[in-house]
Amino acid sequence: MVAKDMLCKRRIVAMWYQKVFSFIFFIYASFYFSETVGYEYEMKTFNVLLDHFSFALQQDTFPLRYAINDSYWKGNGGPIFFYTGNEGMIELFIENTGFMWEVAPDFDALIVFAEHRYYGKSLPFGNESFASPDKAGYLTSLQAIADFVDLIEFLKSNIRGAEKSPVIAMGGSYGGMLSAWFKIKYPHVIAGAIASSAPIWQFIGMNPCNTFAKTVTSDFTRESPECSNSIRHSWKAIDNVTATDEGKKWLSASWRLCENITDDNGGVYSLKNWLSEIYSDLAMMNFPYAAKFHHALPAYPIKVLCSYLNDSILPDRQLLESMFRAVSVYFNYTGDAECLNLDSSALYPDLGTDGWDYQTCTEVVQDMCQDGVDDMFVPYKFDFQGYSDSCYNQWGVRPSRTEGITLYGGRDISTASNIVFTNGLLDPWSGLGVLENVSETAVAFVMPDTPHHLDLRASNPADPASVRQVRQHLRHYMSRWIAEHKAASS
Ligand SMILES: *[C@@H]1O[C@H](CO)[C@@H](O)[C@H](O)[C@H]1NC(C)=O
Ligand SMILES: *[C@@H]1O[C@H](CO)[C@@H](O)[C@H](O)[C@H]1NC(C)=O
Ligand SMILES: *[C@@H]1O[C@H](CO)[C@@H](O)[C@H](O)[C@H]1NC(C)=O
Ligand SMILES: *[C@@H]1O[C@H](CO)[C@@H](O)[C@H](O)[C@H]1NC(C)=O
Ligand SMILES: *[C@@H]1O[C@H](CO)[C@@H](O)[C@H](O)[C@H]1NC(C)=O
Ligand SMILES: *[C@@H]1O[C@H](CO)[C@@H](O)[C@H](O)[C@H]1NC(C)=O
Ligand SMILES: *[C@@H]1O[C@H](CO)[C@@H](O)[C@H](O)[C@H]1NC(C)=O
Repeated sequence: MVAKDMLCKRRIVAMWYQKVFSFIFFIYASFYFSETVGYEYEMKTFNVLLDHFSFALQQDTFPLRYAINDSYWKGNGGPIFFYTGNEGMIELFIENTGFMWEVAPDFDALIVFAEHRYYGKSLPFGNESFASPDKAGYLTSLQAIADFVDLIEFLKSNIRGAEKSPVIAMGGSYGGMLSAWFKIKYPHVIAGAIASSAPIWQFIGMNPCNTFAKTVTSDFTRESPECSNSIRHSWKAIDNVTATDEGKKWLSASWRLCENITDDNGGVYSLKNWLSEIYSDLAMMNFPYAAKFHHALPAYPIKVLCSYLNDSILPDRQLLESMFRAVSVYFNYTGDAECLNLDSSALYPDLGTDGWDYQTCTEVVQDMCQDGVDDMFVPYKFDFQGYSDSCYNQWGVRPSRTEGITLYGGRDISTASNIVFTNGLLDPWSGLGVLENVSETAVAFVMPDTPHHLDLRASNPADPASVRQVRQHLRHYMSRWIAEHKAASS
């Protein structure tokens, strides 16, 4: 049993760095969860083809969930705002895309949020959807976008007054990648797309491999160089201290770990992984207002965390004591954590992680690396073969190196039209997104002082000016796309 657990931990460690970055999306989605605003809508289902791209199969279908709100819709050709659901149950995105709800009344828009296949309740084979490669294999972004196309066709032909409606796709994070790809693949189906914090250039070879790690680091250095330096030194301090049994005991006790670190339970790895993960999380969630996510966090949590890390050359144990006080901001802000659980899946117990884990083993593969010099992390090199092998062991599939390029054009999207890419430069994903205008009508806006996809959230008095301004730009482009569509179809 012990041997098996160890093997399992080893495998997780080997995959970890690759996985954690892509999982940050997922984790982020799960953090959304408890922030319920209470928008009202009707939840419906629509039968979609299991496989849109072949006539070989008997044409199996399954019900895809979508939410609809027609309270602002006047039924006379007004626009359809269509959220391209990402890697989670659609309710998460409904509650956290306040922008769409806020602008819909001004446009007399029909609001639609479509769930992504294989997430939430849109499971083609129910609880067996991930049971084997032949069942899971229909989980691809392109199939998901094809679901959206059919749903839009259905809505347009079944809702009175919608036949000629312009459709505007919207999404954040992976949902933003989908809305951009949707416009690129099906320019005739949607009039425009808003892609917020959408790292469509995160795939192998598209950017220096340490882009993500460098941005996370600079978010901490920005508060103070001592802060990122403390973190940079902490890895060695952990190694030093845990080299002895007495040290392991000391660390387990002073960090109040739920499970004591021992020689063979992978505790040191888990601790380092957990730490790296929370730094990346915080870089995405460094919101200007206190937020009640899965854990409560203060406004600007990185600033608060860094206030405890003002001296990077402390002796090992003192450094680690400061580190513990610092990370308590993340896991114990409300003061009710009984112990520190390093198993990060404990963060999101209610959500199946299968879908995203599978996607990171097929299409969503990054060649991320860390060197510990330009960034504050443990050095790590990307090993495609090792990654591929662990995917094969887990899912019976091997990842594609080139999907983002062959399917969606990679960095060559100069033919794209009517897309607005928005990015907050504090967001570690921003460096893997579109920061420059790519064509006459596919444009980019950057928000220097903003984390991950704040612009699509409901407005808040603490929103930075750049976010308010970008929301104005979005409204402007939406009006323009609607007018163009009307002119072309009249
Ligand atoms: C649509 O949303 C608005 C705002 O949340 C709500 O007042 C209205 O009742 C909703 N309409 C439907 C049909 O759910
Ligand atoms: C799926 O659910 C059914 C009925 O609830 C159960 O019998 C079956 O074992 C489940 N399968 C898996 C893979 O969990
Ligand atoms: C770790 O131990 C080495 C060797 O004793 C020492 O030089 C170093 O300062 C210690 N701490 C860190 C953070 O490197
Ligand atoms: C951890 O070790 C201490 C002794 O060092 C012991 O008192 C405690 O019960 C252990 N905790 C767990 C969760 O095993
Ligand atoms: C760091 O902060 C602590 C507590 O506020 C203070 O006692 C200490 O002198 C500071 N260290 C440095 C190097 O500024
Ligand atoms: C969490 O904070 C409370 C209040 O400060 C403290 O009593 C408790 O020990 C902390 N939990 C952990 C695991 O550090
Ligand atoms: C892209 O073009 C728009 C419109 O011309 C402009 O307002 C915007 O600043 C440009 N974005 C960048 C990143 O240069």
